[in-house]
Amino acid sequence: MLDQNDWCLDPELDFLNHGSFGATPRVVMRERAELLERLERDPISFLAPERDLCGSLDHVRCILADLINVEPLDLVFVRNATDGVNAVLRSLPFDKGDEVLITNHGYNACSNAVRFATQRSDAITRVAEIPFPIEHPGQVVQAIEAALTERTRLLVIDHVTSPTGLVFPVKDIIDLAHQQDVRVMIDGAHAVGMLPLDLKTLQPDYYTANHHKWLCGPKASGFLYVRSELQSQIQPTIISHAYSRSNQNRSQFTSSFDWMGTHDPTPIMALPAAIQFLSNLYPGGLETHMQRNHELAVESQAILSKSLNVEPPCPTEMLGSLVSMPLNGIALSSACQLGLALYTEERIEVPISEGVAFSLTTRNSPPCLRVSLQCYNTVEQIERLGEVLRRRLKLV
Ligand SMILES: Cc1ncc(COP(=O)(O)O)c(C=O)c1O
Repeated sequence: MLDQNDWCLDPELDFLNHGSFGATPRVVMRERAELLERLERDPISFLAPERDLCGSLDHVRCILADLINVEPLDLVFVRNATDGVNAVLRSLPFDKGDEVLITNHGYNACSNAVRFATQRSDAITRVAEIPFPIEHPGQVVQAIEAALTERTRLLVIDHVTSPTGLVFPVKDIIDLAHQQDVRVMIDGAHAVGMLPLDLKTLQPDYYTANHHKWLCGPKASGFLYVRSELQSQIQPTIISHAYSRSNQNRSQFTSSFDWMGTHDPTPIMALPAAIQFLSNLYPGGLETHMQRNHELAVESQAILSKSLNVEPPCPTEMLGSLVSMPLNGIALSSACQLGLALYTEERIEVPISEGVAFSLTTRNSPPCLRVSLQCYNTVEQIERLGEVLRRRLKLV
């Protein structure tokens, strides 16, 4: 059962921002501290790929592969989702005039990786504009379909969007892109640990995610999945020994990501402890945990819509455990001041972002306030946030 003492979070702070960097349970931090102790007792055995490192990583690889339904050897570890997106974008050759399609709900750092990769090849970054508020998931598919062209080589989309917290219908989007011979990279930074994931059913070409967000692993670690036929094309963001030295017992793909110079692998190695912690919270395991977070998100959307006098900006079927609310009629600078006051004066940690941009129309979406619903959050925290917003925005 849930015990607030399992977490290090400041009890005086209403922490409604699990989505940014996650939070790590004490038991997982202890596991990592023990791993670090073992590393320092015998650094060579622990860290050398030809001694214990590869075996330790393979152990975690198998546990994670089981969780997201992929073959273990199609998975490698990265520092974070930005790293995973960069590895793919910076490895792929683009020709002049090729197009890479992103959306206006994408995470800025990852969209920048696309811009960098296209600019250096005289290729084009095209942006599909998806509305927010949104009425149904089909609007996402329609916007992407309208933006695909004969020159589109790659589609990069979020599984769960960062500013707007929307769960995109990724299976439909992948199928649509594949019908048009377009490869798909999914940025699932938020998805693993928030939603049940089955990559064998989804069949993306590339999928990356963070362990430190909704799986509650130590910062910073994540994974990158690449479809087996495409692996020989993908290099990590750091080129190291494996580029010129093959290991007969391991694929080039896994070898090159296993060793990117001296690094701390303990956030990866402590991941099984985080998965176990979340799986043991409720008798129904991880599925029940994710479902409960989702139910709290649905309730939170209703509470905040009422407090802010707005319609829910998306249907509940597009919610995972993030809820984003547009702050209508408020300039971004005032919204940022509000965010700071919520933290310093009200002791509520909640992010406010610029929302999403629409370049083809004159209208940009208003700033968005996003709450994260993790098992340590309560409905009372959301009710208090709603009251504080009403008072500060003079909605009473
Ligand atoms: C959708 C999405 N992609 C990528 C990232 C980047 O995560 P990281 O900084 O851990 O690479 C985030 C972070 O919030 C995100 O929301």
